[in-house]
Amino acid sequence: MLMVPPVSKKPKINSFAVLTSGGDAPGMNAAIRAVVRYGLALGCDVYGVYKGFSGLLEGQILPMSAASVANIIQRGGTILKTDRCEAFHKRSVRREAAHILRRKGIEGLVVIGGDGSFTGAHLMGRENGFPTIGIPGTIDNDIAGTEDTIGFDTAVNTAINAIDRIRDTASSHDRIFLVEVMGRCTGFIGMDVGIGGGAETILIPERKRPIEDVCDSVERGLKRGKTSSIIVVSEGEKPGLSSRIANDLARRGYSAKVCILGHTQRGGSPTAHDRYLASILGASAVAHLVSGKSDAMVGVQNDKVVLVPFKNVIGKKKVVRDELITLAQILAS
Ligand code: F6P
Repeated sequence: MLMVPPVSKKPKINSFAVLTSGGDAPGMNAAIRAVVRYGLALGCDVYGVYKGFSGLLEGQILPMSAASVANIIQRGGTILKTDRCEAFHKRSVRREAAHILRRKGIEGLVVIGGDGSFTGAHLMGRENGFPTIGIPGTIDNDIAGTEDTIGFDTAVNTAINAIDRIRDTASSHDRIFLVEVMGRCTGFIGMDVGIGGGAETILIPERKRPIEDVCDSVERGLKRGKTSSIIVVSEGEKPGLSSRIANDLARRGYSAKVCILGHTQRGGSPTAHDRYLASILGASAVAHLVSGKSDAMVGVQNDKVVLVPFKNVIGKKKVVRDELITLAQILAS
């Protein structure tokens, strides 16, 4: 069971800020709410930084109250807004960020985001002796050291709902559909969506398959009397891979429709799972920060909340398990 860790009797920090960074993910608001309310309950002053690290550099920092996070647990996106901040790659800029926080009397920072956001937090913290804790928030679920990230479950459910609808029209017209999902260079979304949506073929970056394989799987389906087919395609490095596959299929005599789900997967009300995960991880991040822990991410391993040093998270590869790939192939056959 996921449990919030105990808080040290002598708090090491009395004031901290929270920001969201990178691509937004459903459940970020639930995490902000938990961070703010748990921090206030522990007697801390809590600040919200608007627009991620860019907003931090502009001094967009405001005190948060319990009321400021009311009525947001069910909302997608992030009330703090988010950004991908190129300037933060510079050491001098990170030093300035730490100064800005210190000048406001802020002693620690909670960063909700993904790998790039944690890199910024890790470097700023280490170079300037500034305590930071990360909370994994990304639909991609591609962060090492945690089995789950905030937003992943919602994105998978959104995509599965879309596939259910596409299947209706695919079977009515006897069509092949390529449904492209997000996830960048990892296939976590693709694999779960493919298995949960009953896709006939799943294409993920971890296990590249030649186009002949895709044709074979369509043919196998036809032989079994299937007149339509859903092929889930993980986007890979950039969107549009499914269109290129459709062209390859056309050259081999198969006509396929393309549906790129894109940013629809990033929006919408978070699932119960993501709200719960965000609430527990939000409170856990604060518990650790106030207890003097730093330079680490809260995550989930074997149904337990864990604290993983940033150095074991950043830049580390997490890939879809082989057993899952095999299972998907068996179930689709
Ligand atoms: O990292 C989350 C994510 O949604 C990826 O799945 C996707 O490739 C990328 O962000 C899209 O980023 P942007 O919103 O900047 O186009």
